[in-house]
Amino acid sequence: MSLISRLTSSKFIVPVAVGTAAVAATLAFSTLRPLANEPAAAFKGDDQWIDLKLIKYEDLSHDSRKFTFALPSEDVKSGLVTASILLAKYVTPKGSNVVRPYTPVSDPEQTGTIEFVIKKYPTGKFGNHIFGLKENDTVSFKGPIIKWKWTPNQFKSVTLIGGGSGITPLYQLLHQITKDPQEKTKVNLVYGSKTAEDTLLKKEIDEIAAKFPDRVNVTYFLDEASPSAPNAQVGYITKEWLAKNIPGPSADHHVYVCGPPPLYEAISGNKVSPSDQGEVTGALKELGFTKEEVFKF
Ligand SMILES: Cc1cc2nc3c(=O)[nH]c(=O)nc-3n(C[C@H](O)[C@H](O)[C@H](O)COP(=O)(O)OP(=O)(O)OC[C@H]3O[C@@H](n4cnc5c(N)ncnc54)[C@H](O)[C@@H]3O)c2cc1C
Ligand SMILES: *[C@@H]1O[C@H](CO)[C@@H](O)[C@H](O)[C@H]1NC(C)=O
Ligand SMILES: *[C@@H]1O[C@H](CO)[C@@H](O)[C@H](O)[C@H]1NC(C)=O
Repeated sequence: MSLISRLTSSKFIVPVAVGTAAVAATLAFSTLRPLANEPAAAFKGDDQWIDLKLIKYEDLSHDSRKFTFALPSEDVKSGLVTASILLAKYVTPKGSNVVRPYTPVSDPEQTGTIEFVIKKYPTGKFGNHIFGLKENDTVSFKGPIIKWKWTPNQFKSVTLIGGGSGITPLYQLLHQITKDPQEKTKVNLVYGSKTAEDTLLKKEIDEIAAKFPDRVNVTYFLDEASPSAPNAQVGYITKEWLAKNIPGPSADHHVYVCGPPPLYEAISGNKVSPSDQGEVTGALKELGFTKEEVFKF
């Protein structure tokens, strides 16, 4: 945005009658400085749907894509914080609304664009809609809805347990915790997928793990052994494996879980509703974890 359009769009009118050039310059400086340092947010947590243009998409696997949307202007950031989601909406030809939550994987400070990783299910309503879109088509989004407000060094260590496209909020946390130079939090990521090619964001995760060998520990689980992932564990994530490889329950260690319903059942128990985390059951309960130490996305 140019200086002039910023001035006019913020209704800042140089007070010609009351000021010298110096006063006007001071006012302009103090008004503009926060804007220059801190990009405005496209999404403000209000009830407004904003249409974003699809500018690029890339297949990550046979049923998952990374979608890049343009924000309303090149110099705004999304307005998301870690960890939060946006709601996406599409109106069917018959006029009913299909609204689904999705978790951006782009950096919250990135301006101009926002990225999502989305998996398509065979009969999935929103998935089939968005996989049918072409470059320059639009999707309506609103939000953000904050799921977990991460603050630097909130815990000494975190364990992130995910399955399938449930990696997206865990990736937000991993990314935030490793990009912030004041962070010391250690991260254990335990990520299960059907096959090696279903392991979403693997390149990004491996890059982070290689950069932070003392703070980040990643273990992939696959349903069956695969020559392309010789280091992966085979089978489901079990209580026995977790008992040996993650820190035990404590106020300094928090566990975050996100995945399909069977993963919640086995590891942490399902949520009762978006606002009710329910009791901790499954492997984490057997390992002594309680509601205070576990968050289900
Ligand atoms: C907080 C939150 C964040 C999310 N973030 C993401 C994200 O970043 N990326 C992403 O791809 N998805 C994400 N999801 C899931 C997403 O919101 C939709 O539920 C998903 O895309 C399916 O929607 P659909 O309309 O395509 O399928 P629907 O029409 O709702 O479902 C069609 C069929 O697909 C099957 N199905 C749907 N979901 C699942 C599942 N999880 N496991 C197994 N089978 C399933 C069901 O059997 C159903 O019959 C998130 C969900 C939540 C609650
Ligand atoms: C999308 O829009 C851009 C810019 O307006 C244009 O250059 C491009 O050709 C369009 N792409 C398609 C597939 O229409
Ligand atoms: C990573 O996990 C392995 C296996 O549990 C453990 O031996 C190692 O010490 C861990 N490394 C870090 C940096 O936590």
